[in-house]
Amino acid sequence: MRLWDLTPSAALIALLAAPEISSAFYLPGVAPTSYKPGDLVPLHVNRLTPIGSNIDGTLRSVVSFDYYHPAFHFCRPKPEPKHVAESLGSIIFGDRIMSSPFELKMGVNETCKSLCTEKFDQSSSHFVNRRIAQGFALNWLIDGLPAGQLIEDEVTKTKFYSQGFALGQNDEQDMHLNNHYDILIDYHEVTPGQLRVVGVIVQPDSRRSQKDGEGDAQGSCGIGGPPLTLNENGETEVQWTYSVYWRPSATAWATRWDKYLHVFDPKIHWFSLINSAVIVVFLTITVFSVLVRALKKDIQRYNRLDSINLDDLSGTSAAIEDGVQEDSGWKLVHGDVFRTPKHPLILSVFLGNGAQLFVMAGFTIVFALLGFLSPSNRGSLGTIMILLYTLLGFIGGYVSARVYKTLGGEKWKLNIGLTPLLVPGIVFSTFFLLNLFLWAKQSSGAVPFTTMLVIVGIWFLISVPLSFAGSWVGFRQPAISAPVRTNQIPRQIPPSSTYMRPIPSMLLVGILPFGAIFVELYFIMSSIWFSKVYYMFGFLFICYCLMIITCAAVTILMVYFLLCSENYHWHWRAFLTAGASAGYVFANALIYWITKLHLGGFVGSVLYIGYSLLISFLFFILTGTIGYFASWAFVQKIYGSIKID
Ligand SMILES: *[C@@H]1O[C@H](CO)[C@@H](O)[C@H](O)[C@H]1NC(C)=O
Repeated sequence: MRLWDLTPSAALIALLAAPEISSAFYLPGVAPTSYKPGDLVPLHVNRLTPIGSNIDGTLRSVVSFDYYHPAFHFCRPKPEPKHVAESLGSIIFGDRIMSSPFELKMGVNETCKSLCTEKFDQSSSHFVNRRIAQGFALNWLIDGLPAGQLIEDEVTKTKFYSQGFALGQNDEQDMHLNNHYDILIDYHEVTPGQLRVVGVIVQPDSRRSQKDGEGDAQGSCGIGGPPLTLNENGETEVQWTYSVYWRPSATAWATRWDKYLHVFDPKIHWFSLINSAVIVVFLTITVFSVLVRALKKDIQRYNRLDSINLDDLSGTSAAIEDGVQEDSGWKLVHGDVFRTPKHPLILSVFLGNGAQLFVMAGFTIVFALLGFLSPSNRGSLGTIMILLYTLLGFIGGYVSARVYKTLGGEKWKLNIGLTPLLVPGIVFSTFFLLNLFLWAKQSSGAVPFTTMLVIVGIWFLISVPLSFAGSWVGFRQPAISAPVRTNQIPRQIPPSSTYMRPIPSMLLVGILPFGAIFVELYFIMSSIWFSKVYYMFGFLFICYCLMIITCAAVTILMVYFLLCSENYHWHWRAFLTAGASAGYVFANALIYWITKLHLGGFVGSVLYIGYSLLISFLFFILTGTIGYFASWAFVQKIYGSIKID
């Protein structure tokens, strides 16, 4: 078995070999719980999420709802449902986990237990029928494991568990509410009397009449009877029932997540990844070999010309002619390449934040790859991202200050203030605005006000001071000296050819880094919008590396052509052309919207576009920064290797 095929936790365990030894290394929150026969196994309920219509597979909503939203009329535990403690990342990414009235006793089969009977009025019926039509799913957690439905992949013929199970069924004419659940739980016996939950399937069903099953263990719960339809013109009485079946299983606890993760065909995934990797590597090698050869020739010629001019030897007329003829190219702008660009303040603030994002993304992916962020540790991905971004405020401040000083900026107070406020401010206010829409919709996806306060608190009490400290250190360091002096008077820039103009060059360059991550982006999007688990961090790591390489390579090439055409405004150009791949990411999101989503409502569309814009903006800062620093290193290097009198 390849390491990539395993879940992160399973991979970690595989690495640590013996399970007895590795049990000492389980991380908090993912340690196994053993139950004795007859022990109560907790069933927690999470929010209801849209997972796509069962008719055409498109997603029709991006709004999620609390399990105990009054219109659903699900049975409540006595006296009140309790919140289950969650991590910050888990709350921000939408989990709302509560206790439930289900009683599951380890190893004890039960048929047809009645929970409660509820009356649906007209408006509730209408609400629930709408949710069924939109393909909403219930998300239960049993011993931390999501309850799914067994699904067979049409392509690979492998069976896997979906996350969540349907609220109701939607046939051509009617909506049927699922009011009976067959809960099938797989357990694994570690040692006699020590049982662990290793798999959960729920088969929901819709049954109109369950009278014979009420309170009667032998009852049939109306099996085979007509399905239940909620009447939108009157009251409907609904009885909620469930059965529990415990099945012994050979699956070990360590691999219990694997069934949830075999969602995509790994062969196709591998194929497309290798495909793009080969293209990227080939492209990069070509670019570099051409570039290095051209540069070597340039530098040799420049330095030879220099020595001829200096020594004023008679020399061969051919060499001088050669020199006169070819006295063009990037050397001509040596007195201008290090001239302060326009708006150095904004550029340095973006670069500081970009560096912060870059390091955060790298660390997160490596942590995930090492198995620290297994899906059983709910929300750990979000939490670690927020934590890392906060702590890396220092790097943001440092880089921003250093760049600003090097670019010759003078408003250092403004730089220190804007670095931790501008980009996070844009992100936070967009997030806050989108949240207002969710509040208005009474969706559970809305982040509670207290969580908002916690985020603002972390931002101002930890991230901002750290960024200030970083800026302080950055400003105390000397500016990075340029290898050539800048002339007093700026040079004229000759008109450039079409493809070197800003917009065409951005379109040309931006597509390549996007190409490197295109495949992975598809999986990330479906995990975000279809609530699927994302676990392929091995792929993500490779893609991240490929993206960095492409971004750097194509931007350097573009800057080389730019300088050769005697245009020395490379600072913003490098940032914007590399960042242009974010435009493709956004365009891709729009295409995804058209093909995969059928969001009827206004709120759904606003949310989708809003979050896509937010992600694209962060991606713009990230890729722009990669492109800029690669070009900066390149420019430093080439101008450092020519002699100038
Ligand atoms: C419980 O039900 C399952 C599935 O029908 C069955 O395999 C198992 O043997 C039953 N267990 C007991 C204790 O009856």
